[in-house]
Amino acid sequence: MQIIERIHEMRSWSETQRCQGRRLVLVPTMGFLHEGHLSLVCDARKRGDQVVVSIFVNPAQFAPQEDFAAYPRDFERDRQLLQKERVDVLFHPSVDEIYPEGYQTQIKVERLSVPLCGVVRPGHFRGVATVVAKLLNIVRPHVAVFGRKDYQQLQVIRRLVADLNYDIEIVGHPTVREADGLALSSRNVYLNAEGRKAALCLSRSLGLAESLARQGEKRGKAIVDAVQAEIGKEPLAKMEYVILCDPETLQEVDRIDQDAVLALAVSIGKARLIDNTVIKP
Ligand code: PAF
Repeated sequence: MQIIERIHEMRSWSETQRCQGRRLVLVPTMGFLHEGHLSLVCDARKRGDQVVVSIFVNPAQFAPQEDFAAYPRDFERDRQLLQKERVDVLFHPSVDEIYPEGYQTQIKVERLSVPLCGVVRPGHFRGVATVVAKLLNIVRPHVAVFGRKDYQQLQVIRRLVADLNYDIEIVGHPTVREADGLALSSRNVYLNAEGRKAALCLSRSLGLAESLARQGEKRGKAIVDAVQAEIGKEPLAKMEYVILCDPETLQEVDRIDQDAVLALAVSIGKARLIDNTVIKP
């Protein structure tokens, strides 16, 4: 596995591969890799000839009071994991390489960035969209793979790619869960033993919503109320939002006549956790 830190080297590697007719797949990450990331890498392997994983903790997507400095990092462990997965290139630029002195361009995906996580993290998706646009320009993959756990992020990126005419296929990979249902996330490391148990209220409440819909419940409010009540039973859980929304526009829906996404954000101690499921009519 090659480790590349400089943009010009990444570009020239990509250019060579493309000229040789190879199909490139990018998995963008912020590191501190877990099984969820490795499953994105496996998916990527099936979709092309060369797999590039980027590790870059992007300061632009953290607000000043958020956990940029404390965000978990372990480059050596990540490197070993990716080497085992036979990743071809690990792209690991510095903050100065991505945002050099004088940098001032931002990309804003207008409406999709506003609801759900956008309410408490107003600049977050601008930071995500900006860095993803840059990574796509630098690595120039044919395909890029993202996790569906970050559902709103995935929709923002799909919109960005469509609006800016990137000729890149965006793949949304299913959420990977622990055996007991907890969605894998680098931020799970913030959970202590009690918090880890409490965090199960997210997947439990999503399961409840799915089962209500299977029993024929079509009223959005009834489903959201039931999910909120389930989370409300967990004393350590601080609910931020529970929203049933259209899978593409992310606008709230009040009936389930076609697929809808139930998305939620809950804080447990200092871990802010998000999860979602698609509710079928
Ligand atoms: O999901 C993440 O890890 C990040 O938001 C991403 C897409 C790598 C952009 O920094």
